Amino acid sequence: MQIHTTIESVRAARRQAGKVAFVPTMGNLHAGHITLMRDAGKQADAVIASIFVNRLQFGPGEDFQKYPRTLQADCEKLEAAGVAHLFAPDDQLMYPELQTYHVDPAPAQIAILEGEFRPGHFRGVATVVLKLLNIVQPDIALFGKKDYQQLMVLSNMVRQLALPVDVQPGETVRADSGLALSSRNGYLSPDELAEAPRLYRELTNICEAVRAGDHDFLKLETDAMATLEAHGWSPDYIAIRRRIDLQPPVHADDPLVVLAAARLGRTRLIDNIEI
Ligand code: PAF
Repeated sequence: MQIHTTIESVRAARRQAGKVAFVPTMGNLHAGHITLMRDAGKQADAVIASIFVNRLQFGPGEDFQKYPRTLQADCEKLEAAGVAHLFAPDDQLMYPELQTYHVDPAPAQIAILEGEFRPGHFRGVATVVLKLLNIVQPDIALFGKKDYQQLMVLSNMVRQLALPVDVQPGETVRADSGLALSSRNGYLSPDELAEAPRLYRELTNICEAVRAGDHDFLKLETDAMATLEAHGWSPDYIAIRRRIDLQPPVHADDPLVVLAAARLGRTRLIDNIEI
């Protein structure tokens, strides 16, 4: 695997690579990322991954400083997954001057769910992803469904700005316990790790109830939040939304997803299930 730390170098590699699939990450790679890399490899001549912990998407008091940086181990995993190129810029390369131009996603998309609790987050995500896409110029870009709202925001950005890239979703990868794999799981203590799968279980219960015909969404949401609270969690939201735009459902046949964010100790976890 070639490691690129300049824009010229990754662009030169891209020009010689034929059809390119791109998987942007912030590193600390787990099986969810590696599944995306392997999916990417099936659809292109070469996979380019990126690792960049993007400070623009972290709010004050969030975990930018302590976000795990594990480049050596990540490189070994990428090599084993057959990734041809890694773009690993530093902060100076991505933001050599104050970033004064940004992508502002539609307020309706970012005032809700993650956007409500993490103001500025999606602006930072969209800005860095647009910049990465401009640098790498891939044919395909893959993003995991675990960050469901992020996937929606980025798909809309690509469509509305007519970017020449095909966005593809990747399924969430889970531990045997059901816990969605996430770099932030590494912050959990052993006790918290044992408790953490409850988030997925609550989502699964809601999913089963809705499929069985229960349409009292508000009660399902508040009951699940109360269960989490009773087990020491601080939930930000549990919300049944329509998949298309993550707004509250209107029609009985709207395809749905249930999304959650909750704090366990000092760790904030998110998850979702399509119903
Ligand atoms: O999902 C992530 O890891 C990040 O939000 C992304 C898409 C790499 C942008 O920094």
